[in-house]
Amino acid sequence: MSLTHLTDRNQLHVLKEQLRLFAFDGSPFPSSDMLKDAHQSLSKRERLSTLLEGELDFHGENSQYASHDLHSFAAKFPPQLPRAFIRGLTNPDDIVLDPMMGSGTTVVEALIEGRLGIGLDIDPLALRLCRVKTTPMNVDDLREIGYKVISKAQILLSSAEILDQELTKRFDERTKKFIDYWFLPDTQRELVALVLAIQDVNDALIKQFLELTFSSIIITKSGGVSCARDLAHSRPHIDSAKVPKNAIEQFSLRLRKNLKSIAQLKLNGHPARVEAGDARAMPFGDESIGLIITSPPYANAIDYMRAHKFSLVWLGESIVDLSDLRAEYIGSERVSKFQYGALPEKPEHIIHQLAERDKAKAGILRKYFIEIRSVLAEMQRVLRPNSAAVIVVGTSIMRSIDVQTHSCLADIADRLGFDVVGIAKRNLDRNKRMMPARFGKKSDSMIEQRMHEEYVIGLLKPESPRENEHAKP
Ligand SMILES: C[S@@+](CC[C@H](N)C(=O)[O-])C[C@H]1O[C@@H](n2cnc3c(N)ncnc32)[C@H](O)[C@@H]1O
Repeated sequence: MSLTHLTDRNQLHVLKEQLRLFAFDGSPFPSSDMLKDAHQSLSKRERLSTLLEGELDFHGENSQYASHDLHSFAAKFPPQLPRAFIRGLTNPDDIVLDPMMGSGTTVVEALIEGRLGIGLDIDPLALRLCRVKTTPMNVDDLREIGYKVISKAQILLSSAEILDQELTKRFDERTKKFIDYWFLPDTQRELVALVLAIQDVNDALIKQFLELTFSSIIITKSGGVSCARDLAHSRPHIDSAKVPKNAIEQFSLRLRKNLKSIAQLKLNGHPARVEAGDARAMPFGDESIGLIITSPPYANAIDYMRAHKFSLVWLGESIVDLSDLRAEYIGSERVSKFQYGALPEKPEHIIHQLAERDKAKAGILRKYFIEIRSVLAEMQRVLRPNSAAVIVVGTSIMRSIDVQTHSCLADIADRLGFDVVGIAKRNLDRNKRMMPARFGKKSDSMIEQRMHEEYVIGLLKPESPRENEHAKP
């Protein structure tokens, strides 16, 4: 081996170390000078593979800074994860997209890092949450109006008759049935008193913040002020022994916490864009995005709407509309308008294996892969050439078969023309990433068996399409 070769290799090693040091640095704004060399001297592919080789577990790191902890959300990823890829793969002012943004972790990180963050989701609560999380606000105004809302709700609470009338006329029959099942009469009065008080707030942004604070007292690990046993894990079960806490007191506590959180959020260049839409038909132009970081739902695992409707019904949505929307979620078991079709060899093989044990589950898995393929095709379309997509996904065990979601997705992405730069494994911090817990005794529960690790797939859209691309199925 020549001396020059050795020197080049050493230099490459140093550059990769510099990149990792910078991207995984815990401080909010590490010196960007540190990174300049690495950015200029390493190709996008080298940077992506270097980051994938980094420590992606992030156990023990604080994930509650800035506005990240305003509201519970199942299967959030740690903010350090998008942050590392944003720092390592983009420059200030670049556009970073999460087309299934959930609670908006990627979008908040993009905002903090001075990139233009764009988030897309179909879930009404995700949209409300991300809009608030990415909007710096005047905390003094929020505090003043927030405490006026609390006093008003307390006053309203003394007129039980008026509140009962409001509860009768406010909801359609099915929505009221749902509310009566999950909320005790006293809690209903406390909640409707808060809703009425928030309704009168004129400032739209402050109102959104207070509505979100309201929602965060219902959707919690313990099921909040509802009679559900668990909502953050999105598998509500009624707990008839539960004595819910006073909703107005809970709102007051949560308001104090949320004021502290939002006070930490500062604009660093670009306001974020948060849009309602379907990741299978993104409302963005071709080749307009510099980096995608996202985490799709797992196959047939988390039913977001099942938990989110607990607060959305109080914020003006009807149970029927919310149930209809469910079919549009990737991974749902409901029939969707999207067409089925053939997949690459690996997913086809796993689907056939599964079909021998359970035809219905095999159908659900096919639908999931086809839906994800539509999302990947859209990612390919909107990404600029030589730009990366980072996809975080766990596998699922269905009828004792590991469906290897990560490698199936990588094969599908490869067929669409992405270069699969690498797949890294990350161990989940089970205390942090809130995944659905198992209920019942089914030892085969794919939910329980999926929870220990997940994968980070690094994809690169090549500078120009690979040859014979369309010859592939
Ligand atoms: C695993 S969560 C994302 C969590 C996110 N990474 C975070 O840190 O909060 C997946 C998200 O995909 C969204 N989703 C499901 N189907 C979708 C679709 N067809 N289009 C856009 N988003 C969708 C869900 O509403 C959910 O918010």
